[in-house]
Amino acid sequence: MKQTTIKDALAGNGANETILIRGWVRTRRDSKDFSFLAINDGSCLANIQAIVDEGIPGSDDIQQATTGASVEITGKLVESPGKGQAWEVTAESMTLVGTADESYPLQKKGHSPEFLREIAHLRPRSNLFGCVFRTRSRLAYAIHQFFQKRGFYYIHTPIITASDCEGAGEMFRVTTLDGKAMEADPEGRTDFFGKPTHLTVSGQLEGETFACALSNIYTFGPTFRAENSHTTRHASEFWMIEPEMAFYDLEADMTLAEEMVNYLIKDTLEHSAEDLGLFGKFVDKELISRLESVIAKPFERISYTTAIELLEKSGQKFEHPVEWGVNLQTEHERFLTEEHFKGPVTVHDYPKTIKPFYMRTNDDGRTAAAMDLLVPGIGEIAGGSQREERLEVLLENMAAHDISPDDYAWYADLRRYGSVPHAGFGLGFERMLMFVTGVANIRDVIPFPRTPGNAEF
Ligand code: 4AD
Ligand code: MG
Repeated sequence: MKQTTIKDALAGNGANETILIRGWVRTRRDSKDFSFLAINDGSCLANIQAIVDEGIPGSDDIQQATTGASVEITGKLVESPGKGQAWEVTAESMTLVGTADESYPLQKKGHSPEFLREIAHLRPRSNLFGCVFRTRSRLAYAIHQFFQKRGFYYIHTPIITASDCEGAGEMFRVTTLDGKAMEADPEGRTDFFGKPTHLTVSGQLEGETFACALSNIYTFGPTFRAENSHTTRHASEFWMIEPEMAFYDLEADMTLAEEMVNYLIKDTLEHSAEDLGLFGKFVDKELISRLESVIAKPFERISYTTAIELLEKSGQKFEHPVEWGVNLQTEHERFLTEEHFKGPVTVHDYPKTIKPFYMRTNDDGRTAAAMDLLVPGIGEIAGGSQREERLEVLLENMAAHDISPDDYAWYADLRRYGSVPHAGFGLGFERMLMFVTGVANIRDVIPFPRTPGNAEF
């Protein structure tokens, strides 16, 4: 007998044969001498209906096949005479695998995401979170496909690191020393690695070493930021995709980022259609039309200077005042994408002073070859730059940022030996997932969210 996922069974695979399905009971409805079980195994959003006649092996347990219980059913996959499903299973036997009593929290439909967040160990069994995490899986696969098709190599960069890529100092220290020992040894000489180490905020610097050897690479892994941001778009642990390309300039970098976002939207529309249907119905009514409009036309591109002019001329009252030299805040990014362009926009050539040491200084001396890709509803989804490939300029930038040339000698070596123009960017995986699902809170697109004050499970 063939074990079948519910997804396959609902597609009619195994029609008129006896199949075995396994899953969790969503609902049970009893009739005179039979019961309907709606069973879900997570392979897809839809449940399969099984008709369990009184008297078949295992049917004595039917009263215990309550919401949340796990069951195995063997039976014939037949065309369903009822409405709402094409296929159903006429059970020949039922095995009650695990019971679930009335305390099972997912009794009724329609719990709030906030409630479900508190039961993050059970929320994957809800319709919404099943859809989110199937879409997350597909998105990760699509990311690998996007790069692998283009001949990029996947590089695993370290999670524990002794460098601070973004220079923001928002890092989690990794240590085996206790408080006192750490105080007595600020240099970390007696610490596990003989120096202070942290969880990585970005794999970029290590990624650059591989781009300067394999030409086109990408990383895809977890990153950690100890920033005290309490927003719906910041997590302390999140995943990032960081491509890095030798012989790329900023222009080529922006093009790749835009193509990638485009590709991922198309892939989601095509391959996560059932899950998107639920998001479009219950999470964000405009989701599908927004995604379709985004891929229908090229992304806008403007310089930071033009962005500032647009914001100044907008007549909007912003909480954070706008003038040339300030960093764009979420409210500014959202004005540009939601009000002005009504779609994604890539902003490039930011003031050098607000950007990290590794970005390439432009000929004007006051801007850096930086770019941020902004999307409606979220703001920054990806950020990157052309890297400074001129040794002297890099060393000047490091000095200006108080970065010790000794600690980054290996990074400078890339410019000392066979330096090449190169560029890259980082795409926030959860932010991309928020964009394609319409889910508004980053805590609801990552299995076990870590945010300031919260590291449950
Ligand atoms: O803009 P960020 O800080 O850039 C870098 O880390 C560069 N080293 C990337 C590169 O050039 N290789 O982060 C990149 C992206 C952001 O655009 C955002 O989407 C996401 O990572 N991100 C976060 N996502 C969730 N929670 C946070 N706290 C995030 N911080 C950044
Ligand atoms: Mg950024």
